[in-house]
Amino acid sequence: MSQDKIRKERTISQIVTAKTTTEGDGFIVHRPFPNYSVRDFDPFLLLDEMGPIDLSAGEAKGASDHPHRGFETVTYVIDGAFEHKDSQGNSGKLFSGDVQWMTAGSGVVHSEMPEKEFAKKGGRLHGFQLWVNLPKKDKMIQPRYQDVTSKNIPIAKSDDGKVQVKVIAGESMGKHAVIDTKTPIIYLHFTIQPNGKVIQIVPQNYNAFAYVAKGEALFGSEQKIVSKEQAVFFERDGDEISIASNKDTTSPVDVILFAGIPLNEPVKRYGPFVMNTEEELQQAITDYNSGKMGKIDF
Ligand code: FE2
Repeated sequence: MSQDKIRKERTISQIVTAKTTTEGDGFIVHRPFPNYSVRDFDPFLLLDEMGPIDLSAGEAKGASDHPHRGFETVTYVIDGAFEHKDSQGNSGKLFSGDVQWMTAGSGVVHSEMPEKEFAKKGGRLHGFQLWVNLPKKDKMIQPRYQDVTSKNIPIAKSDDGKVQVKVIAGESMGKHAVIDTKTPIIYLHFTIQPNGKVIQIVPQNYNAFAYVAKGEALFGSEQKIVSKEQAVFFERDGDEISIASNKDTTSPVDVILFAGIPLNEPVKRYGPFVMNTEEELQQAITDYNSGKMGKIDF
């Protein structure tokens, strides 16, 4: 008797075109949420796509010293280079393919700037920042960094060679991520060649959405076309998601798939702070203003 479970494909709830806005010291991002139609997508609070843009010498901008409390920021650099510093004395550089998973927890002040040589010379910039909410019990934990270089991020390929996946969080095609997440998260970067298709298992209790970073992809049994700078949100009505390159395309498509178990807790947010109650939000502002989250002094 077969042990195989009968799987069901998820249906699409909505497709959202990212809004172009500015962040930090004035760099341009494409932001599928938050916006008026999607305030958050539990446990995710925000997704920003930086670029893709070809910057000339001296043009790169970053986000100078700013605080965070109550959630995690995940930076994935596809092209370009960043450097970060924080109020705990940490610093580091992120190059193409690297990921930084920062758990802000009780509070940190950090800067996210273009790496000096990259800023001086210019070049192609493309990356993502995802905000992952922390459960109430973890909002005030010690801040933590996981800097994972490109070579340590597992990559898998389909048998037909048409699909490649970088496993940033979770599991895909038999490979497990090296990053440890506070709640179970799936973060997968698929590159799909023409006529390629992948079916990814996403347990039914996860909220899931995907963002098309390059080209056009077909999602679900409905074969809906989702293009660059669009996000597709799924219902929790199945346990797999199919992604294919659009018909007749001649170049690869890049899709990032995100999924996480909803926290089902109240979300109170104000800029860089995300807590459960208004009082906790006020406390975060007071703590930051009184210097309790520290400062970058090196
Ligand atoms: Fe930040």
